[in-house]
Amino acid sequence: MTQPDQEAPIRSGPVVDVLLADGDVATVRMLQPDDRDALLDLHRRTDPDNLRLRFFTASPATARRYAEGLLDRADQVIVLVVVRHDILIGVAAAELVGPDTAEVAFLVDPAAHGLGIGTLLLEHLAAAARNRGIERFVAEMLAENGPMIKVFADAGFGYRRTLERGVISLELDTVASVRAVAAADAREARAEARSLAPLLRPAPSQSSVSAGTALASAAPC
Ligand SMILES: CC(C)(COP(=O)(O)OP(=O)(O)OC[C@H]1O[C@@H](n2cnc3c(N)ncnc32)[C@H](O)[C@@H]1OP(=O)(O)O)[C@@H](O)C(=O)NCCC(=O)NCCS
Repeated sequence: MTQPDQEAPIRSGPVVDVLLADGDVATVRMLQPDDRDALLDLHRRTDPDNLRLRFFTASPATARRYAEGLLDRADQVIVLVVVRHDILIGVAAAELVGPDTAEVAFLVDPAAHGLGIGTLLLEHLAAAARNRGIERFVAEMLAENGPMIKVFADAGFGYRRTLERGVISLELDTVASVRAVAAADAREARAEARSLAPLLRPAPSQSSVSAGTALASAAPC
């Protein structure tokens, strides 16, 4: 079994191509110093509702300070980003709060919600954390944050949660359970089917291009 490497540089890690739920391809990798402008831009274009879900305040200044802090604290925080077509569209951070525990937080470009990016970030962050001996994630989220709660619940990792005054405190095992592996496999298969669908559909004849295109986009994948 691979031993955790707590001395591994926190910015080193694999660059992995991933399939999104719409069949498009993106890359998951560690945040790099060159990502500064793109990371600030992701926080800048996040709308007030999503800022509030993420930071418990809609203040753009808070979001900016947080993003700058991530870039400055590279030795203490594991930060993963998702990049699609050269645009940084997601970020996840795991910050040590105990010898084997990290606090995690996620932000996905509102224009790219529902494509599985939050889930992919959680899976890859858990793998990066396990490699560094982190066995547990903790997170706090507003009780109304359905999408985040769903990401944690559906990923298949063991978790416990408590609710107090509208805030959910969650504790999640980073170990990939059988359920987590099965959930990831099922998601990957669905995305792969979507990415192949345009190739597998019969090409429309020259005379019926517009009708064929309309049919193709309405057909189930
Ligand atoms: C929470 C968040 C990271 C989820 O990212 P995501 O990439 O949309 O997550 P996924 O695509 O993996 O979605 C998980 C589920 O939530 C659903 N979902 C995502 N965004 C949604 C939205 N805005 N409204 C309704 N459902 C949504 C997805 O459809 C998916 O459900 P499915 O499995 O049935 O398809 C993202 O919504 C976000 O950045 N929110 C603002 C910041 C935040 O709240 N951070 C969490 C605090 S730590």
